[in-house]
Amino acid sequence: MTKKTKEIGDRYQEETKYHRDSLGGGFGPAERTAPFKEYPDAQSIIPVPALPETGPAGFWETVARRRSERDFTAETLTLQELALLLFAVQGVTAKHGGYLLRTSPSAGALYPVETYLLVNNVESVAGGVYHYNIIQNSLELITAADLAKELTAAALGQRMVADSAVTFIWTGIPGRSKWKYHERAYRYIYLDAGHIGQNLYLAATALGMGCCTIGAFFDEEVNSIIGVDGKQETAVYMGVVGKLP
Ligand SMILES: Cc1cc2nc3c(=O)[nH]c(=O)nc-3n(C[C@H](O)[C@H](O)[C@H](O)COP(=O)(O)O)c2cc1C
Repeated sequence: MTKKTKEIGDRYQEETKYHRDSLGGGFGPAERTAPFKEYPDAQSIIPVPALPETGPAGFWETVARRRSERDFTAETLTLQELALLLFAVQGVTAKHGGYLLRTSPSAGALYPVETYLLVNNVESVAGGVYHYNIIQNSLELITAADLAKELTAAALGQRMVADSAVTFIWTGIPGRSKWKYHERAYRYIYLDAGHIGQNLYLAATALGMGCCTIGAFFDEEVNSIIGVDGKQETAVYMGVVGKLP
């Protein structure tokens, strides 16, 4: 393997960061790829039945109702609701050898994604930035400073951050996966984060709350808010949750 090939993941991470003076990355190919793939000549096409109109609220209704919601009321989230959201994103559900298996899957069970919270409005949890300790199932305060304005600005001014009851910030720790997957690890970090984000969406929907994930942010500003270096650990994804009007 050439040196260049070896470093492609690190260069990718650096060169796709958003900075204040440039959103980086350029634009994609001029010709857009079709958003859907179809096989009209397939030998067999089986229509998927429509969902039943009635029935108890459950998994299928939750999946069908999930939407990105960006407008929230000032209503407080209960701690029980926050506990359920945290369980959905990274709750430990089984022990297998040395691995703590979670609600969200992870490539090689290496779990390179960490969860931080910016708490704006949650019962019994003072505002501030917290780290979610998975083993202890606890929130570790990083700073009690009110950084909602800063995080909103870091998310390209997206108002839903300041309006949310809580913002989840997910980081990737490449070293947890790179030893096994080398540069391919970056793919898995983003895939893992995607699973986690979807679980947050579904949990919030099931609880009757709104959620929207966020990929547009100034990386180093978010990193500095949660106190990570942007290299050994770097923000990869965020998600806001709040009560719906
Ligand atoms: C990786 C990713 C990044 C996203 N980033 C943002 C974002 O920065 N701001 C935003 O308003 N929505 C964001 N969204 C939400 C999408 O805009 C939304 O999923 C899409 O419009 C489809 O709508 P739906 O989620 O309601 O089905 C993101 C979604 C994903 C999966």
